[in-house]
Amino acid sequence: MKWVLLGGHGMLGQDLQAVLADAGEQFIAFGSAECDIRDLDAVRKAIAAADVVVNCAAWTAVDKAEEHEPEAFMINAVGARNVALACAESQARCVHISTDYVMSGEGAQPWPEDAPQAPRSAYGRTKAAGEWAVRQANPRALVVRTAWLYGAGGPNFVTTMLRLAGERETLTVVADQFGQPTWTRDLADLILRLVRAEVPGGYYHGTSSGSTSWHGFAQEIFRLSGLDPERVTPITTVEFPVPAPRPANSVLGHDGLEASGVPAIAQWESRLAAHLRTG
Ligand SMILES: NC(=O)c1ccc[n+]([C@@H]2O[C@H](COP(=O)([O-])OP(=O)(O)OC[C@H]3O[C@@H](n4cnc5c(N)ncnc54)[C@H](OP(=O)(O)O)[C@@H]3O)[C@@H](O)[C@H]2O)c1
Repeated sequence: MKWVLLGGHGMLGQDLQAVLADAGEQFIAFGSAECDIRDLDAVRKAIAAADVVVNCAAWTAVDKAEEHEPEAFMINAVGARNVALACAESQARCVHISTDYVMSGEGAQPWPEDAPQAPRSAYGRTKAAGEWAVRQANPRALVVRTAWLYGAGGPNFVTTMLRLAGERETLTVVADQFGQPTWTRDLADLILRLVRAEVPGGYYHGTSSGSTSWHGFAQEIFRLSGLDPERVTPITTVEFPVPAPRPANSVLGHDGLEASGVPAIAQWESRLAAHLRTG
């Protein structure tokens, strides 16, 4: 199969390239300079020969989106719709990446794939609009929601914690927001498995199994790196104000994967250990 990766040099894009290369798939990765997804004709040209298109391109600066919602919307909603539409025209399989931030964050149960979107931030609103636009333009598209990503291809929570461990004796981390730390390499592998399984169009949740808080995640990074986890002190969301509200409960359920016979990503602790071993 011929794959085209849009936003293909970001953190997820880089691990998708690695996974596809290992799997012997043909692919080409475009950054925004080669293919700006806000430009429908540029997208049509970039994906013309593709069997599968993965849209990793996004406005990902969550806090900055609060003051730049129209610009974020152009990429996360209009750009997403352009990709889905061009794929529908050329019969390529479209895989669009979305986020836990489309959910309200209320309650304590994992979010099912069909839970109604109720975003609380500008970023979440633009990504929810992207989901709807993609599904409307291309019912065969796979909308793969992910969350709490880390990987070798960009700065992330793991790199931040390890940097701060070298700079400070103790650090404080939010303990009342829950989610699923997810390695971009595992998400890339799941995308490949979904496409190969020819699953029907719809929503899928591409996160690790299990769940923890940011504080629990930080403590596990410390523990696995031979550092004392007690150096990480829990605080509440109220004690760490940021411009964009975060969902308290970001945990995504995996029933859609199970129903499709595609195993979910394994427990987050074992996958974090694998990442820290291999980089
Ligand atoms: N990181 C997380 O924790 C997280 C959580 C949930 C969901 N997600 C979703 O996962 C996906 C991948 O995220 P990531 O962490 O890999 O993000 P990333 O590292 O920020 O990569 C995003 C890429 O999008 C590209 N891009 C931005 N504007 C573009 C445009 N107009 N046209 C084409 N490309 C454009 C950028 O390319 P250039 O550098 O070439 O400009 C960048 O490399 C996104 O959909 C994101 O919303 C991420």
